[in-house]
Amino acid sequence: MNLRKYNHKANILYEKERLDFSSDIDFFSCYENFQTDCNNCESTFKSTFIKLLAQIKIHKSWNFMDCGCGLGLPLFLASNRFYHVYGVEILQDVSLIAKQNLDRLKVSNYTIINSDINSVRDEIINKINVFYLFNPFLNTIFCKFIKKIANSVVNADREIWIIYVNATQEDKMNIYASLFNKEIELNDFRKIIFYHHLPKL
Ligand SMILES: C[S@@+](CC[C@H](N)C(=O)[O-])C[C@H]1O[C@@H](n2cnc3c(N)ncnc32)[C@H](O)[C@@H]1O
Repeated sequence: MNLRKYNHKANILYEKERLDFSSDIDFFSCYENFQTDCNNCESTFKSTFIKLLAQIKIHKSWNFMDCGCGLGLPLFLASNRFYHVYGVEILQDVSLIAKQNLDRLKVSNYTIINSDINSVRDEIINKINVFYLFNPFLNTIFCKFIKKIANSVVNADREIWIIYVNATQEDKMNIYASLFNKEIELNDFRKIIFYHHLPKL
């Protein structure tokens, strides 16, 4: 394993969250990501994610994607609310731990893709209704990915939510204002924005 662990400033909180799971499940370690414009691996808090999902009406047939899925906690929590959950993770060793976590927790409706987010096939993007981004990537990677989602509306118009936590790239969403409506804005410990697209009738 080539991963470099680090101590997050919220480590005490992560240690507390860890107690909800058996010791063979690792959702809360933090790992460095050295690739340009790719952020480190650190987990969403369980209570935060549950609160976020409670903001939207989810249909049983919907698919979910965690864009930069880290160790997989959001995938686990979303798995019983969605038809299928997809996690995309650029760090191979992190994606393997996520897979191990979900297998140990007996989640069966998931797919983890170990790749850069912009290499995910359009056929998969076209199926996703809720995209979850916990500040995973920046600049060109972010712009390309939002463009990919926008193009997917042309190919497969459908209801879409983009839940963007710690929305550092918010300005890059402006050109898509007519497609993705900024519907909810929360200030938890970080800025969280929900963008919404409804299909044309
Ligand atoms: C802040 S963590 C969030 C982890 C998880 N989504 C969660 O909320 O618990 C961001 C993750 O995105 C991954 N990542 C960064 N850039 C990426 C890219 N271009 N493609 C896929 N994953 C990426 C990082 O390796 C890291 O694991």
